[in-house]
Amino acid sequence: MKAVILVGGEGTRLRPLTCNVPKAMVPILNRPFLEYMAGYLKEHGVEDIILATGSLPDPIQSYFGDGTKFGIRMTYLVEESPLGTAGAVKNAEAFLDESFFVFNGDVLTEIDLTAMMRRHQEIGPKVSIALTPVDNPTIYGVVETDAEGKVKRFMEKPSRDEVTSNLINAGIYILEPEVLEHVPVATPFMFEHHLFPRLLEMGEVILSYPSDAYWIDTGTPEKYLEAHHDLLWGWGDRGIRLGRGSKIHSTARIEGPALIGEECVIAEDAQVKGPTVLGPRCEVAKGAVVEGSVLWHDSKVGEGAILRNCIAGSYSCVQHGSPVLDGCVLGDNVTVGRGNRLAKGARVWPESHPKPNITSF
Ligand code: GTP
Repeated sequence: MKAVILVGGEGTRLRPLTCNVPKAMVPILNRPFLEYMAGYLKEHGVEDIILATGSLPDPIQSYFGDGTKFGIRMTYLVEESPLGTAGAVKNAEAFLDESFFVFNGDVLTEIDLTAMMRRHQEIGPKVSIALTPVDNPTIYGVVETDAEGKVKRFMEKPSRDEVTSNLINAGIYILEPEVLEHVPVATPFMFEHHLFPRLLEMGEVILSYPSDAYWIDTGTPEKYLEAHHDLLWGWGDRGIRLGRGSKIHSTARIEGPALIGEECVIAEDAQVKGPTVLGPRCEVAKGAVVEGSVLWHDSKVGEGAILRNCIAGSYSCVQHGSPVLDGCVLGDNVTVGRGNRLAKGARVWPESHPKPNITSF
């Protein structure tokens, strides 16, 4: 079985974390997101992954190679300019000869793909689309279905009055290869805006697969942190997993659930409170507190500093006297100097990638 994973987006909502790292390689519990996805797909019988990449494809290829090390075959397709979600799959057409999965490359989920494929094959639509319930559908693309689960229409960010369903597109599809005949070659084309409405107009069946299974789009810092909290609490034992070579001072206090990568140093009187992840070689200096946060590799929290419910990119540093609280996001190599107070939810860009002048996020 084959799956196309769409990893060609720019990951703008997750910036500054995605300034240097493609979204698919952003670590989840200290492993690239895509590694989780490959494991999940493998469990459901996928043997071939086709990665539709765009910007920054090299880090993915140098980590996964041909996939052998991960027990799955990986093929890479690069787009010279973004083709959109459906255009990117059209670009993979030569590799696709039977029902196949398509995934958005930022969805962490336990949706039962085996059952979804079984239903697709029993009923035989041209497209199946997984749906997931959300509390506030007005900020998503809502999918309206009939009593038999056939899709009636797609509504992008409906107003409160228009909302007729709390089910949104989960970014997981099964497609029959022939639907790609309706996608133009080398032209930006989207599933929800172009291909699916076109198929509905033509009278083709798009079957929904609603599921209550765990699902989260990790594409924003808030959701990325939430996914970590969910995964860590999911351990159920408030455990502390300690990487090889890490040193914890006898007076330091660690409360799980916490994942501490290899060769970290937690100094005297420092505190690490779960749910927290420290990447490899992080340092929590004397008396510093890290709580509810995710730190990427080689980050440092200076003496007496506080980092709470935040994300810190690799080689970032928080110095003493500069508490970093509530949803702040530090890009790679960012240092928050003494006396710098960051506003709640502030995002600090690395100097090599100054913040673009875009107000939409
Ligand atoms: P934002 O810029 O934050 O919206 O992120 P994004 O574009 O990476 O994600 P979005 O949720 O908009 O897209 C859904 C999925 O489709 C993501 O996994 C993207 O990587 C992927 N994607 C979006 N546009 C393209 C494209 O033009 N080509 C390819 N290959 N993938 C795409």
